[in-house]
Amino acid sequence: MTDPPAETGRAVVSGAGKQPHDQSRQGVVGRLDAVAVARRDAGLHRQLSPRPADSALLDLASNDYLGLARDPRVVQGAVDAVRRWGAGATGSRLVTGSTEAHAALEQALADHLGTDAALVLSTGYHANLSVITALAGRGDLVVSDAHNHASIVDACRLSRADVEVVPHRSPEAVEKVLASRSQRNAVVVTDAIFSVDGESADLATLSDICTGYDAVLVVDEAHALGVVGDGGRGSAYAAGIAGLPHVVLTATLSKALGSQGGVIAGHRAVVDHVIDTARAFIFDTGLAPAAVGAAHVALDVVRDDPSLPARARARAHDLARLATAAGWVASDPDAAVTSLRVGRPDLAVRAAAECAARGVQVGCFRPPSVPDGASRLRLTARANLTEADLERIGKVLTEVRAELTDPPARTDHVAVTGPGKPPFDQSGLRGAGS
Ligand SMILES: Cc1ncc(COP(=O)(O)O)c(C=O)c1O
Repeated sequence: MTDPPAETGRAVVSGAGKQPHDQSRQGVVGRLDAVAVARRDAGLHRQLSPRPADSALLDLASNDYLGLARDPRVVQGAVDAVRRWGAGATGSRLVTGSTEAHAALEQALADHLGTDAALVLSTGYHANLSVITALAGRGDLVVSDAHNHASIVDACRLSRADVEVVPHRSPEAVEKVLASRSQRNAVVVTDAIFSVDGESADLATLSDICTGYDAVLVVDEAHALGVVGDGGRGSAYAAGIAGLPHVVLTATLSKALGSQGGVIAGHRAVVDHVIDTARAFIFDTGLAPAAVGAAHVALDVVRDDPSLPARARARAHDLARLATAAGWVASDPDAAVTSLRVGRPDLAVRAAAECAARGVQVGCFRPPSVPDGASRLRLTARANLTEADLERIGKVLTEVRAELTDPPARTDHVAVTGPGKPPFDQSGLRGAGS
C-alpha cells in the first residue's frame, strides 16, 4: 500500500495483513486529524447541526421553495402511500421496485414538464448520473457549464467521455466547442437555474445550437421545477423547448415538491435507453413509496394553485431587495435563490452564525462549493414567507451587515447550514476520460 499525501485527506486503509490493525487505524486517524486542522484554519470546517422538529429559526436555507415539505396534504400523500405500498420499494426498479404509484407519478411529471415520458429515480443526483452516462461514453463529448452542479460534474467524470468545461452561461463557447469537435456524439449539459446565485441559462439559444450541431441538450431543472414558468412547469417548458426530441430534462423532487427523489424526462426513446443502460438507475433501489406519494400530491398542489411558483419568485426578489437595501451585494434571482457576496470563507461562516443568532437560518457557501474568495450567503425564498417575516429578515440583514464592517482575521468555527455541494469544483475535469 502506498500512503496518499497527507494533504489529500483520502483515507486509505491498509491492505490485507500489511500492518497490525491498530497501527493502521492510528495512521489513518492521524492523517485525517491533520487535514481537519488545515480545513479549520482555512475556515472550511463543516459540521452537521441536526435541527429539532420545531425549530424556531426562520428558514432561508432549505430548498422547500413552496413550503410543501410539511403541507398536510403532501404529508398525507406520503402516509397513504406508506400504508398502501409499505416503507420501502423492496427492490430495484427493474425487479420489484416499480409500483403503480411510480408509474402514475411518472405520467404526471411528464405531463407537467411537457415531455413524452419520465422516469423516477431515488435522487436528483442519480438522475444526472444516469442520463449523462447513458447518453455519453468513451469517444463521445460532453460540454458542461463551469458552474454546473456537483452531480453533473460527477456524471461527466463517470461517463468516461471527453469533457469540455465551458465558461459560465456562454452559448458562444458551447457553439465553438461543438463546431470544432472530432467526436460524433455530443451532449451539452447545463443547470436551468444555477444553484448558488440563482441565475438562469439561455435554454432557447442552447437548444438551437444543439439542433444545428446534432447534439443532445440535458437541462437540470432542480431549481426550476415548481418555481419557473407558468404553473412551475420549469425553464425548458417556459423556453418552449420541453418536448423537443433532442432535449432531456432532469430534476429533483426534493426542492419545490418538498419530497425526495429525482426524475429524467424526455423522449420515450431516451427514457427507454436509460432504463436499459444506466447503472445508477439499474443497480439502485426504487424510490421509497412515501416519497413517491408525497411528490405526486405536491405536483397536484402546484397544478391546482399556479400562483404558488410566482409567489416564490416574488419572495426571492423581496429578499434580494432587502439585502441590497441593507448594504449587501445580492444576485438577481431568476427563481427562488439569491446569494450575498461575502468573500472570505471565515467571514461567510461568521455572517451565517450572526444571522442564526438573530433567529434567521441562511445557507453558507465556501470553497469547494464556490471559488476561492467568492464565499457567500445563500438565501432561499419560500412562497409562504409573510410580510412580518420579511420585516424581520430586513432587520437581521442590516444588523449582520453592520457587524461585518470590522471583521476579525479569523473566527471560531461554528455549525452552519448549507448543502456544501460543490457546483464549481470541476478541477481535474477537463479532458477527463481521455
Ligand atoms: C442543480 C442540482 N442538481 C441536482 C441536485 C441533486 O438532487 P438531489 O438532492 O435530489 O440528489 C441538486 C441538489 O442539491 C441540485 O441543486
